[in-house]
Amino acid sequence: MVGWVSALPLMTRLLEALKPGDRDWVLAQQLDPQRLPAHIAIIMDGNGRWARSRDLPRVAGHQAGMESVREAVETCARMGIGALTLYAFSVENWKRPRAEVETLWRLLGVYLQRELPTIIEQNIQLSAMGRLEELPATVREELESAMAATATNTGMRLNVALNYGGRTELADAVNAILQEARASGSLETLKVDEDAIAARLYTAGLPDPDLLIRTSGEMRISNFLLWQIAYAELYVTDTLWPDFRRADLLSALLDFQKRDRRFGGLSPDVHPAETESPVALEALGSPR
Ligand code: FPP
Repeated sequence: MVGWVSALPLMTRLLEALKPGDRDWVLAQQLDPQRLPAHIAIIMDGNGRWARSRDLPRVAGHQAGMESVREAVETCARMGIGALTLYAFSVENWKRPRAEVETLWRLLGVYLQRELPTIIEQNIQLSAMGRLEELPATVREELESAMAATATNTGMRLNVALNYGGRTELADAVNAILQEARASGSLETLKVDEDAIAARLYTAGLPDPDLLIRTSGEMRISNFLLWQIAYAELYVTDTLWPDFRRADLLSALLDFQKRDRRFGGLSPDVHPAETESPVALEALGSPR
């Protein structure tokens, strides 16, 4: 059975799950299946504010956020997105009250237990990234068992960032390079290039995210995927994470497909005449 899901054309499984004429179906129909991001990353923010606006404890916001996780994962998998990385717990999140941190671990366990059958059915391969060795033992065990159960799946990679920090990741990559060079006796001649760093990041083997979504309106990167988002398109929505539904995700993708991605080059709609006649440099004056 494994492999049949990803063999279907992109978007097919999503459209099959939607009702023709519904809002989500109309949005999905507008997407160009050939120009979907290979990798989407999401900063799931605003759970606390969602709860506060309802006079609920913060953990109720995290609990409600689980439904958004479920919907985003299933939608991306059904569209045929290659990888989805979710920022679930940062290295800085340990500063939160202990009860909130413990609830987050419990919710992750609940999510894995509840969603594993769907994750398997959707042919999703689960992975986690961050300093996982510092996670509570029970969380590590739950994760390892869920990852093992999905290890041979060939569809979307669902990558959960846990005890993750972009700077920590870069420091870990540099230390790995140093350690390998010491072990092979090549420290004296070591020369580090971009490929060497990328190959030792937690995301090694994954394409860089094409699209980074952040909910709740904050214009920050918050130490997420600092290296990998060099050329990602950023999409910030005021919607709080627990309110982020399939339509919000589809709208983000439609916005993404309108972007002109140049990666430092020129847009194809630049006319050759615009680049042909160089301005006489003398006319600009000499640099001071
Ligand atoms: C940020 O909102 C959210 C988090 C730190 C946790 C995200 C966790 C979940 C969505 C629950 C389960 C996750 C998985 C992967 C199953 P915030 O608390 O910083 O919100 P605020 O800025 O409004 O206070």
